[in-house]
Amino acid sequence: MKEEIVKIQQEALARIAEVTDRRGVEDARVAILGKKGVLTMAQTGMKDVPKEDKPVVGQLLNDARKAITEALEAKLAEVQALADKAAVAGVDLTLPARSLPMGGLHPLTIIRDEAIGILRRMGFALAEGPEIEDEFHCFDALNTPEDHPARNEKDTFYFDSGKLLRTHTSSVQIRTMEKQCPPVRIIAPGSAYRRDEIDATHLSVFNQLEGLYVAKDVSVGDLKGTLEYLLRALFGADTEVRFRPHFFPFTEPSFEIDVKLKVSGQEPRWVEIAGCGMVDPAVFAAVDKERGGEPCYEGMTGFAFGLGLDRLAMIRWGIRDIRALIENDVRFLSQFQ
Ligand code: DAH
Repeated sequence: MKEEIVKIQQEALARIAEVTDRRGVEDARVAILGKKGVLTMAQTGMKDVPKEDKPVVGQLLNDARKAITEALEAKLAEVQALADKAAVAGVDLTLPARSLPMGGLHPLTIIRDEAIGILRRMGFALAEGPEIEDEFHCFDALNTPEDHPARNEKDTFYFDSGKLLRTHTSSVQIRTMEKQCPPVRIIAPGSAYRRDEIDATHLSVFNQLEGLYVAKDVSVGDLKGTLEYLLRALFGADTEVRFRPHFFPFTEPSFEIDVKLKVSGQEPRWVEIAGCGMVDPAVFAAVDKERGGEPCYEGMTGFAFGLGLDRLAMIRWGIRDIRALIENDVRFLSQFQ
């Protein structure tokens, strides 16, 4: 019996050593340790072993089973490692993974959010109004007479109903003042529409950021300080800003604001980015009249401004053609991620 067990163990270990795949490991396990395996069968001979030999023979059997089991496990790990290696043969695991395309914010969104952030820290709250407006909010209440060129069919998109696509965000000034008495300190970003010839600097839809501050004793100094602070926060502390006298029906005095654009390789030039001014008393009168009751804007002062957001983006990134902002060409957009 003892010799038989030793022999079975030797043969089993030799067989396992020859195995080269998972299948072979399993076959060997069944043939040796399975229900009808050679070692299992040998074990049944225990009953014929004389009582005094049983401990020794039993120990031998256990040792053999343990040695064979360990050999099978080691073999299994070995063939698995070989199979894994073969599966990735020729694959370069150090190659960088292919990158997944990732979205990002549109440049207009980036500059708009920055401007909003700066103005909110100065105490301006967000306000909004509809893009489909009526003539009252877009023109009449803003002191813009019937025969003003901005009201021309050639310049403005009118609906059959008489409503129109707002030509500027200044209509939100009226919508806000109708709802509340001073002090008013709001900004209103949004789209505006004009029947312009489309070229490198004009689109029929563009984006503005309107601002309005109404209180007692607001001065041109407040207007200048606020806008210079905003523009320097956006474009850098050494940004040159210029206020040029201009005319708008809803402000008196009125100005246009230019920023000195410095693009390397180009002569620096002034670029117009906003209209602004001190709110015309006629606007306050129109609002008070529309509100009815006790007038709350009479005798008030205020400043207003309308920034061209597309222009701000063009200045920030040196974009030469405004059409790039609406074409959604990924080659352009991916530069802002
Ligand atoms: N609404 C003017 C435009 O679109 C810009 C503007 C000028 C807005 C003066 C203002 C302002 O609030 O006070 O050209």
